[in-house]
Amino acid sequence: MAEQMEIARSKKEGEMLNWEDIKKMKYSWNVACEVMRLAPPLQGAFREAITDFTFAGFSIPKGWKLHWNVNSTHKNPECFPEPEKFEPARFEGSGPAPYTFVPFGGGPRMCPGKEYARLEVLVFMHNVIKRFNWEKLIPDEMIIVDPLPMPAKGLPVRLLPH
Ligand code: HEM
Repeated sequence: MAEQMEIARSKKEGEMLNWEDIKKMKYSWNVACEVMRLAPPLQGAFREAITDFTFAGFSIPKGWKLHWNVNSTHKNPECFPEPEKFEPARFEGSGPAPYTFVPFGGGPRMCPGKEYARLEVLVFMHNVIKRFNWEKLIPDEMIIVDPLPMPAKGLPVRLLPH
């Protein structure tokens, strides 16, 4: 990815990434977000109704446990046109409408590890892209969900240093 190679080129031998570099990795994060939209690490989580309410014609009594599900918005064409298409540009500009892209949940119990996860993902991507091209050894490897999605055979790849 051009963005990552440009950051790599701006560094002296052995110089570490800094926060300014991470903030420049917009395209890479859009790619990671599109991966999490299509293959969300968590399928959803639970909430408890703190009051009686009606949603989409359903009466929900106070005290009921509810499960919100990522795919009800991630795969919904009203939220994400052509939902099966891999398209990182969806996250450009103002991006998806609030509470439609929810791999980290939402509201007061939203994942507190989100920014740390972002940092880790971007640093990992940077270091792999900077050093290697790669080929998947099993081109159409299945993804199994148990309960987190993962490649069925552990994603063997051939790394080609460049
Ligand atoms: C890609 C990585 C991650 C994803 C997709 C993810 C996703 C989620 C989701 C969907 C929830 C439920 C949020 C809700 O109910 O609204 C959650 C909760 C939580 N996550 Fe993460 N998470 C990630 C990484 C992390 C990391 C790195 C940490 C800690 C270092 C972390 C710590 C937590 C904790 C403590 C909660 C419970 C929060 C609460 O109930 O108040 N997560 N996460």
